Amino acid sequence: MKIGIIGAGNIGGNLTRRLTALGHDVSVANSRGPETLKELAEETGATAVRVEEAARGAEVVVVTIPLKAIPNLPSGVLDGAAQDVAVIDTGNYYPQQRDGRIAAIEDDGLTESRWTEQHLGHPVIKAFNGTYAQDLLDRPRPAGAADRMALPVAGDDAAAKAKVRALIDELGFDTVDAGGIDDSWRQQPDTPVYGLQAGTDAVTKALAEASPERPAGFRG
Ligand SMILES: NC(=O)c1ccc[n+]([C@@H]2O[C@H](COP(=O)([O-])OP(=O)(O)OC[C@H]3O[C@@H](n4cnc5c(N)ncnc54)[C@H](OP(=O)(O)O)[C@@H]3O)[C@@H](O)[C@H]2O)c1
Repeated sequence: MKIGIIGAGNIGGNLTRRLTALGHDVSVANSRGPETLKELAEETGATAVRVEEAARGAEVVVVTIPLKAIPNLPSGVLDGAAQDVAVIDTGNYYPQQRDGRIAAIEDDGLTESRWTEQHLGHPVIKAFNGTYAQDLLDRPRPAGAADRMALPVAGDDAAAKAKVRALIDELGFDTVDAGGIDDSWRQQPDTPVYGLQAGTDAVTKALAEASPERPAGFRG
C-alpha cells in the first residue's frame, strides 16, 4: 500500500520503520525538508519528501506531529491522496508542556481529533495516540498470541476505520473499536486506556471506565 507519513519523530520514525519492513511504499516528511531525512530513508527504504508531497497517491496518510503544529501544515496538504484515503491522527493535546491553550478544545469541548480534522479538512481515524513509540518496535505479536496488545481506534468513517484496523493487525496488534470521533475523549491523555499495554478485554474495560471530564494536568 502507498502510505504517507507526515512527521518523522518518535511515532512517525517508528511507523516508517515498521511499515517499510512490511513491504509498504512509504513517503515520509518533516518540517525541515527531505534532505534532513536521508538517514531514515537509507535505513528503511522509505522516500523522504516535502510535506506537500507526502499524501500524493496515498491510501493511508498518518499525521503525527505536535498538535500545536497542525495549523502550520500547508493548506491542501491531503490533496492528491487516493479518493478513499484513510487519515490517521496520532495526536495528543499537551497544553501545559507543549501545545499551549486551545480554546476550541477546552471551552467548546471539541475532542482533540475533531479539532485536528477541522484543520485538516478531512475526517480522521484516531489511532496510536496512547501507544509508546517503542512499543511499535518491541511489542508486535502474531494474531492470537496471549500477550498481544490491543489499541483503541476511533473514527466516523467505517471504511477508513476498517482499513486502519487491518493495517494495525498487520503491524502486530489487536484493535478495539472505540466509537466515533466525538467518543474519542475516552482515549485522550490521562484516561485509563492511555499508555495501557494490555489486550482486548482490558482495553475495552478501560475505554468504558473513562471520565469525560478533562484531567487537571491536561488543562491549559
Ligand atoms: N512519543 C510517543 O511515544 C507518542 C505516542 C503516541 C502519540 N504521540 C503523539 O503523536 C504526535 C507526534 O509525537 P512524536 O513524539 O512522534 O513527535 P516528535 O518526536 O516531536 O516529532 C514531531 C515530528 O513532527 C514534525 N513536524 C512538526 N511540525 C511540522 C510541520 N508543520 N510539518 C511537517 N512536519 C512537522 C517534526 O519535524 P521537524 O523535526 O523537522 O520539525 C518531527 O519530525 C504528538 O501529538 C504526540 O503527542 C506520541
